[in-house]
Amino acid sequence: MNNYKIECISLNKQYKGRNVLITAVRDVSLKIEKGEFILLKGRSGAGKSTLINLIGGLIAPTSGKVTIDGFIVNQLNNKSLSNLLLNRVGIVFQGFNLLPTYDIYENIEVALAPRGLSKREIKKLAIPYFERFGLSEMMHLLPEELSTGQQQKVAVIRTLIRQPSIILADEPTASIDDITAGEILELMRNLCNEQNVTIILATHGIVPETIADRMIVMENGKVINQ
Ligand SMILES: Nc1ncnc2c1ncn2[C@@H]1O[C@H](COP(=O)(O)OP(=O)(O)OP(=O)(O)O)[C@@H](O)[C@H]1O
Ligand SMILES: [Mg+2]
Repeated sequence: MNNYKIECISLNKQYKGRNVLITAVRDVSLKIEKGEFILLKGRSGAGKSTLINLIGGLIAPTSGKVTIDGFIVNQLNNKSLSNLLLNRVGIVFQGFNLLPTYDIYENIEVALAPRGLSKREIKKLAIPYFERFGLSEMMHLLPEELSTGQQQKVAVIRTLIRQPSIILADEPTASIDDITAGEILELMRNLCNEQNVTIILATHGIVPETIADRMIVMENGKVINQ
């Protein structure tokens, strides 16, 4: 067991384009301690989402490895990987990934399904989040009936409600108004402070640097500053 919550060792990811090989993540080595709030910055195409997806085990590296709590993410079989991700890692996707035929309350319900909670317990957990994000009146609308920013809030709720010990958040505030974005960031900061949650927040936008403990900057797949 190592002392770090997350470690990337000589991580590389290449995508096969139609005619070219794109190196999205290039020889990245990182150590992120438990309870750290990391701001992952870099321009569009720098490799932030790819790095987040590698850490979350959603894609396999071309070479190198990621460990979470000492477990090598890309060597786990699917069942252990899903257990690890289910129990520890919550991901807010850049594209939201909400279930289109479920209303937004059901989207949250589904996220809690593995816990085996009763409908009543789920309601008790979920309602305060809907209230906090001003979505109480919209709980029974489909994702497509919400604005982009509102969908983004649902994606954030879906992750936070599972109380993961690691949150990987890919542009979680990109299409949200400044006030709500500030609230989400503050909520995440509190999770770090109070519950020692590790957070990696990727953004190509403007997020106050003071929110994070450390900034990691990517350029052309490389980490140029950490
Ligand atoms: N599935 C894929 N297939 C091929 N190339 C990809 C794929 N995903 C990403 N890329 C390429 O990898 C590079 C890094 O992309 P990535 O999405 O990680 O960047 P990013 O930093 O998250 O950008 P943004 O700020 O726009 O979200 C880009 O050149 C992109 O074109
Ligand atoms: Mg991205």
